[in-house]
Amino acid sequence: MEVRLARLEDMDGIKALLRKYHRDTISDEDRPDGFVTTAITDEQLAELIEKEKGVTIIAEQFDDGHDRVLGFCFAAPWEFWSVWPLFQHMIDIIPNYEFEGKKLVLGETYQYGPMCVDKSIRGTGAFEKLFFASLRQFSDRFPIMLTFVNQINKRSENAHTNKAHMETIGTFDFGDNHYFLMGIRTDRG
Ligand SMILES: CC(C)(COP(=O)(O)OP(=O)(O)OC[C@H]1O[C@@H](n2cnc3c(N)ncnc32)[C@H](O)[C@@H]1OP(=O)(O)O)[C@@H](O)C(=O)NCCC(=O)NCCS
Repeated sequence: MEVRLARLEDMDGIKALLRKYHRDTISDEDRPDGFVTTAITDEQLAELIEKEKGVTIIAEQFDDGHDRVLGFCFAAPWEFWSVWPLFQHMIDIIPNYEFEGKKLVLGETYQYGPMCVDKSIRGTGAFEKLFFASLRQFSDRFPIMLTFVNQINKRSENAHTNKAHMETIGTFDFGDNHYFLMGIRTDRG
């Protein structure tokens, strides 16, 4: 198993995992263990991989040289995310929140997520490895990482609180959904 930045040839594996655990395509059996809500086009995913260096994966390696993607997490500056309505909403409200006793400054933060780990390796430490590798990737550019977790996604809330040691900064609503706003200093990586 290897944790590394994604390359363009990993795109099919990332997309397959995203489809498996996306809210619109996930099986009823898997839904109670969490789902991803963000959709991404091939063009956006390629930009996230190549330009932003914002996709970290965990992959199983095979003797014939091909890798199977078993987990991924996305991360990028807000400029990248601003075309998604949910992220534009977060951009608008972030200055209203405080983290560690100081008002949040948008330019000092970036957005991580979605994160997805195949159920075959959940609860094995893969989540933490991916999470902290992604955090280190951005630590020289931003002091604070922010993310959102849907309040009905209890497994994700628990993983981000207990395993990633993220702090819940506040809550917010968008559309019919209720979210936690969570944060962590990038020097914790
Ligand atoms: C969310 C996710 C990345 C977490 O990774 P993971 O390997 O499952 O995380 P872990 O098993 O290490 O930790 C999960 C925690 O939730 C608990 N948990 C397990 N199943 C649960 C459930 N159905 N409901 C609530 N909590 C649950 C675990 O006991 C563990 O708690 P602990 O830290 O107190 O021990 C992974 O489950 C996943 O990819 N889910 C589908 C996609 C998703 O929801 N992504 C997040 C949205 S951005």
